[in-house]
Amino acid sequence: MTTGANDAVSDQPFALLGLATDLARRAGTLALDGRRSVRDMATGPTKSSATDLVTEFDHAAERLVVDHLRRLRPDDAVVGEEGTSVEGVSGYAWYIDPIDGTTNFVYDLPSWCTSIAVTLDGVAVAGAVYVPVTDEMFAAAAGGGATLDGRIIRCSERDETRLALVATGFGYDARIRASQADRVSRLISSIRDIRRLGSAAIDLCHVAAGRVDAYYEEHLNAWDAAAGLLIATEAGAVGSDFSGGPARHEELLVAAPGVHAELLELLATTSC
Ligand code: IPD
Ligand code: CA
Ligand code: CA
Repeated sequence: MTTGANDAVSDQPFALLGLATDLARRAGTLALDGRRSVRDMATGPTKSSATDLVTEFDHAAERLVVDHLRRLRPDDAVVGEEGTSVEGVSGYAWYIDPIDGTTNFVYDLPSWCTSIAVTLDGVAVAGAVYVPVTDEMFAAAAGGGATLDGRIIRCSERDETRLALVATGFGYDARIRASQADRVSRLISSIRDIRRLGSAAIDLCHVAAGRVDAYYEEHLNAWDAAAGLLIATEAGAVGSDFSGGPARHEELLVAAPGVHAELLELLATTSC
């Protein structure tokens, strides 16, 4: 689907998904073109800590998505990592991470994406994660399964935790990172290995595609997790917090069904 300036977009979940994928592709492509236009990427003033980077392309990609949404879905709320906070009246809310994996983007590593989700009264309806460097589009509408470039994907069938490949990530606050690193050091002897690839949204899509068996992280924001969580659960993965309660971005474990329960136990016994 390609949206023109004046095309209204209906509430139908696959119409919303079409809009999410279209805008994720446009914003991701804008960022990729920007990245390819410079050798050393300049960064703006850092955000939550000295290691929390932002570039002109994070801002430009968010602006592109927000401008389209304001025209096409003027009654919806819009929240973006780079400062967008628009209230809505429709019950629909869009969560945008224009570049998830900004550190990778700055260093010219491939694992970064544009992530866009739309929720209705707090429940995810559709999500799109576009990875420009590999030109991969992960997508899901609630109840409709998850796809990679239009083909249905499923999470892994792993059922032995000691053989599970587990992705995770670290926040930007040095004290939180230290406790997250402690947990990794305790967990790593009970699983196959750990991956820290640098984008929460892509990590969740890797769970969806069976490229890793599980992913966990704490202290994420809604824009990091909303699209990828829907994609992973639509691909059959089980999501929860670290106590087995409903999945939430503040504390998130998403795993293949065969390893979720045991990983939950391991996370509880290695609590920070
Ligand atoms: C970060 C990435 C990273 C995760 C951090 C996020 P950003 O988002 O998703 O993998 O570990 O918690 O903040 O800053 O690159 O958009
Ligand atoms: Ca992010
Ligand atoms: Ca970001």
